[in-house]
Order: sequence, then C-alpha cells, then structure tokens
Amino acid sequence: MSSVISVSNLSKVYGSGFKALNNINLDIKRGEIFALLGPNGAGKTTLIGTICGIVNPTSGSVTVGGHDIISDFRAARAMIGLVPQELHTDSFETVWNTVSFSRGLFGKPKNPAHIEKVLKDLSLWDKKDSQIITLSGGMKRRVMIAKALSHEPQILFLDEPTAGVDVELRKGMWEVVRTLQQAGVTIILTTHYIEEAEEMADRIGVITKGEIILVEDKAGLMQQLGKKRLTLQLQHKVDAIPPALAPYNLHLADGGREITYDYDTKGERTGITSLLSDLRNAGIRISDLDTEQSSLEDIFVSLVRKS
Ligand SMILES: Nc1ncnc2c1ncn2[C@@H]1O[C@H](COP(=O)(O)OP(=O)(O)OP(=O)(O)O)[C@@H](O)[C@H]1O
Ligand SMILES: [Mg+2]
Repeated sequence: MSSVISVSNLSKVYGSGFKALNNINLDIKRGEIFALLGPNGAGKTTLIGTICGIVNPTSGSVTVGGHDIISDFRAARAMIGLVPQELHTDSFETVWNTVSFSRGLFGKPKNPAHIEKVLKDLSLWDKKDSQIITLSGGMKRRVMIAKALSHEPQILFLDEPTAGVDVELRKGMWEVVRTLQQAGVTIILTTHYIEEAEEMADRIGVITKGEIILVEDKAGLMQQLGKKRLTLQLQHKVDAIPPALAPYNLHLADGGREITYDYDTKGERTGITSLLSDLRNAGIRISDLDTEQSSLEDIFVSLVRKS
C-alpha cells in the first residue's frame, strides 16, 4: 500500500514553550484504519491539528496526497475531513443545511445526491430536516461525521469519536467507520480505548509525551497477545538449565530459583505437559507455578511507563 500521509521530523512547541510533539515520523497507508492510542495530553490532537493545517508546525514537514500542508495548503486540506474532539453542535440549523453548507466551504459545487448518500450511510436521512439542537448526542456526532464527509475527502480524521458514547452507539460508530473504509476512505482515529483500537484498527500507533513509541500491525500485536508465560518456582536453586531442556528456550530467574517458559496459546500444543515431565526427569522439583497473559493493555501500560 502506498502512503497517503507522510510526516517527517515533525515537532511542535506551543507559544508557552511546551513541546507537544517531538520529532514525529509517521506514514499513513492509503485505505487503512490507523488508531493513534495515547494517554491524555500525549499530543494526539496536536498531531491531527498539524496534519489538518490548524496547528502550525515548529519544524519538520507533512505531505497529504503528495501536497505539502504549508506551501500547498488548499490541495492538502481538500483531501481531508476532520471530526474534531470538541463538538460545537448547539445549532438551530437543520441537518441537511449544516452538511450542505460545509461542502460549500470547500468551494465544491452543490451535489445533493452525495449529501443524500452520506446522510443515508450514517442513518441520518430521516433526521435531515431536524434542527441539530433537537438531536441526541450520538446523532450529533454522526452529523459531525457527515459534515466532515460533505466535500468527498479521501482521508477522515476522527479525534476521539466515541468518547462519552455508550457501548451500543460505539459499536454503531465502528460499523460506520468500516463502511467508510470499504468505500475507499483512509481513516485515522484517536482513542483512549484499547478495545476500540483492537476492534477497529489495521495498524496501531502509540504516542506519549509527544513521541511515537510504537507503530505496529494489529495482527503483530495480537500475536504478542497470544503469548503466555509460565513461571515455575523451584524447590532447590539450580545453576543452569540442563542441556536436555534446551529446546524449550527456558530462562532462569530469581538467582536460579525460578524458571520461565513462554508459550503460544494459539499453537496446537503448549508443550507444558512434556516440559513438566522433562523437568522431573532432569531432577528438578517444582514448589509452585503461575501463568500470566500479556494483553494489549499490559503492553500499552508498560510502554507508556518506560518512556
Ligand atoms: N494551544 C496550546 N497551548 C499550549 N499548550 C497546549 C495547547 N494545546 C495543547 N497544549 C498542550 O500540549 C499537550 C498535548 O495536547 P493534546 O491536546 O495534543 O493532547 P491529546 O493527546 O489530544 O490529549 P487528550 O487525550 O486529552 O485529548 C498537552 O500537554 C496540552 O496541555
Ligand atoms: Mg485530544
């Protein structure tokens, strides 16, 4: 897949002197769903704002569809739809007018058929003549997505699309995002919910303190999730793992009082039964054992702590 957004050595220092982005390098592939995961204040909104031309970068560069976001701002911005984190939705305008007007802001000729399709895709068609102020929170959020799609962008940014949205509606939102992807839209969403990144994303990026500390295919992360660790407490300290046990790739810990064994829960067999009998044959006696699973949450928390 070719990249549709390219961020190089991007940094942002706010007027206050605070460095919100520190040398970000990131490529977004055409047609993917990319989830940007990070704690409060990590720099997610700042990064999105910079790519969308709302925040001025301090250094570095960004291209969108090959267009530089500064020297070729209009062409870059026209490719992007943005649903901001803070929604301003107390409008007396109707849904139809709001969405149509937004298209006009991009200098695009009227296209009622497109607006109709967007409203239908987002299950808003029967609300087209309703004033925004009369809608529920979840509907308002969908109106904001419709607005962002009004000018037929190829890229959609969703900044915390499901913050404060109930479980049912969140699932509805995921459906909407998937439908958009099938229609060829590249989607970048930010979220605090690991579950959401797990459910939605093709790739996941983790950002903390203005730095991207991990970008990985979800499949790769899920593979790590399938790993479990068996920890065996030994009755007697050993100096080394007996050579007969080499195939298990065991590790000695706690000064020789503990052996750890990593295995794949998704594999055909875990190897635990034969390991235990081979240990017995090697004369190693176990006093206790324990297993633990690493979840995306664990990986995330330990990454953010370490950085
Ligand atoms: N206009 C600004 N002036 C000064 N500092 C700012 C400004 N906007 C954001 N910041 C700071 O930059 C850092 C990153 O903020 P940002 O909004 O990008 O984080 P975020 O990852 O989107 O957080 P959240 O999950 O809470 O939305 C924060 O420490 C914030 O206080
Ligand atoms: Mg934010």
